[in-house]
Amino acid sequence: MLPNNVIEVKNVWKSFKTVQAVKGINLSIPKGKFIALLGPNGAGKTTLVEMIEGIQKPDRGEITIMGKKWKGNEDELHRILGLSLQENHFIEKLRVTETLRLFAGFFDLGMEKVEEIIKIVGLEEKRKSYVVNLSGGQKQRLAIGIALLNNPAILLLDEPTTGLDPNARREIWEILHSLKKKEETSMILTTHYMEEAEYLCDYIVIMDNGTILKEGTLQQLLEDDTSEKVVEFTAEKPLDSLDLSSQELPFTIHSGDSPGKGFISLKNFESELPLFMSYMKSRNNSLKHMECRRKTLDDLFVTLTGRKINE
Ligand SMILES: Nc1ncnc2c1ncn2[C@@H]1O[C@H](COP(=O)(O)OP(=O)(O)OP(=O)(O)O)[C@@H](O)[C@H]1O
Ligand SMILES: [Mg+2]
Repeated sequence: MLPNNVIEVKNVWKSFKTVQAVKGINLSIPKGKFIALLGPNGAGKTTLVEMIEGIQKPDRGEITIMGKKWKGNEDELHRILGLSLQENHFIEKLRVTETLRLFAGFFDLGMEKVEEIIKIVGLEEKRKSYVVNLSGGQKQRLAIGIALLNNPAILLLDEPTTGLDPNARREIWEILHSLKKKEETSMILTTHYMEEAEYLCDYIVIMDNGTILKEGTLQQLLEDDTSEKVVEFTAEKPLDSLDLSSQELPFTIHSGDSPGKGFISLKNFESELPLFMSYMKSRNNSLKHMECRRKTLDDLFVTLTGRKINE
């Protein structure tokens, strides 16, 4: 019987000289689910994913894929996994079709499969283009195409949309979304983008400094705070340090991205909003603009780490 979890990571550690990149991570990936590894630069995402891919060896801990360790099962595991690394290196003087045919050859697959993949990743019009002439988004689509060639049960994509413009990013999302609907593939995707994790993934793992800070479905992650509302505001005068460290209020005033801007996170909107308004009045500062919204993953990340994910 196949295990329910296609990947099990148990107390895995990895360091590079003085850097502890991954510090005791435990993670289970259920069959057919899409998992986002979300974290800022240097969080340890690539190190963790590359250990799962068998490219790096953990210093400590255990990783199993479909119940099997890498050692002694390399051929079998390579057939199960499809991967695209954070940096793709193609042969620039090969055309799109030739590139796919080269990789298809490794798995004894023919032109039929290559054609199917070209269609899935929407590169029909580029089949004869040299890889060097593809746009960033097209190169990423080719990389995903290569990862999909062997019908992998598990797909591991390391930042497939970083640096792409919103349109190119959307196109990749749609390819992965269609794959998800078939419910045959399990996926780990690393990203810096909250929207990507929200849109594509069933389960979100927030990483920083080599550890998992929080994990769960989007709903679970925001559950503690579902009643919490965020009020973004613009004040007439800049907020000063006294405002930001006020002991008078049952919540903190956070500064925004310009001097008069800020936000507060309220558990009890009806009783706390009037407190905020009279506080601002007592500080001789009036409010020019206020907007209320639900708490998001971005806000959660700021709460967990004290900074934004892309800073
Ligand atoms: N081969 C290496 N040699 C030395 N240090 C490394 C090596 N690979 C990673 N590191 C360090 O380990 C930490 C984690 O790096 P990793 O690449 O896993 O982060 P990441 O979350 O993938 O970041 P990014 O979002 O920038 O891709 C960083 O501090 C990085 O500098
Ligand atoms: Mg990385």
